[in-house]
Amino acid sequence: MGNKKVSKIGVLTSGGDAPGMNAAIRAVVRTGLYHGLEVFGIMRGYSGMIDDDIFPMNSRSVANIIQRGGTVLKTARSMEFMEHAGRKIAYENLKKRGIDGLVIIGGDGSFKGAQKFSNEFDIPCIGLPGTIDKDIAGSDFTIGFDTAVNTAVGAIDKIRDTADAHDRLFIVEVMGRDAGYIALHSGISTGAENILIPETETDIEALISSLSEQEKRKKLVNIIVVAEGDKYGANEISTIIKKRLPQADTRVCILGHIQRGGSPTCLDRLIASRMGFAAVECLLNGTNNVMVGILNNQLHYTPLDHAIKAKQKISEDWLNIVKILAS
Ligand code: F6P
Repeated sequence: MGNKKVSKIGVLTSGGDAPGMNAAIRAVVRTGLYHGLEVFGIMRGYSGMIDDDIFPMNSRSVANIIQRGGTVLKTARSMEFMEHAGRKIAYENLKKRGIDGLVIIGGDGSFKGAQKFSNEFDIPCIGLPGTIDKDIAGSDFTIGFDTAVNTAVGAIDKIRDTADAHDRLFIVEVMGRDAGYIALHSGISTGAENILIPETETDIEALISSLSEQEKRKKLVNIIVVAEGDKYGANEISTIIKKRLPQADTRVCILGHIQRGGSPTCLDRLIASRMGFAAVECLLNGTNNVMVGILNNQLHYTPLDHAIKAKQKISEDWLNIVKILAS
């Protein structure tokens, strides 16, 4: 926390894009302008800060974007910003324009950069959690997660149709990096028979015996949702199942980057708008180095280092729900 007031702010998106980032940019720009601030867009995350790809934004710059996926500011993962020399160039570029506050929309890698930057230079940084992975503590939702889960749900529903027609076992791999939230939420919502996530130990013997048990009950259609961060990826699980249960007609589907695209859901647009609005208020209040989140439907402010380190725990309730409802 600090007490430096701002007059010119910059906004950027960094790391993997997430649906709803545009809604957040729009909220930052319009709230900043409402309070009489000058607002600058920074292209391609920290790379644009180093390359001096920075431009003034007005209310029209963010017209007609709330419904669009991707990010109008583009995004990147900058290697140069990891070095002090790169961050110094970025600072000089902000300073020459008088930019004295930043809103960073991104995931944990982006927050690590923001934290270093605001500790080294006198520029307050506010983070907004923009990632489909939901792997950040201090917020019930991250911008893009709900859209990604709904995309996965739509895809798995379609897979179930064809699985049902052929009496097949499908192994569907979803994104999430080291976190299993997309798998957990999409798996429960599509009635997946098994959900494999990195937060729990994947027990191959238990998986095989549950599949054999279902086969005995003439339940031939099975959907296994696997998080990409699980110990076994979809392909490895498929190899094991084919060996142990050769009679099962098994297919693999890796959903991949479709989970990152598309028009954001209403929830993502709402949380992005609320968080973007709150980020500007933080800068106006002299707050530094925090992430704006939403917990129990209330705005919640978490120091950036805590948001990065703490991660979110998956509660026992969810794991029990998976076990009982999939039977
Ligand atoms: O962090 C978002 C995410 O989509 C992860 O779920 C995934 O592991 C990663 O980014 C993929 O990154 P890239 O687009 O660089 O391949």
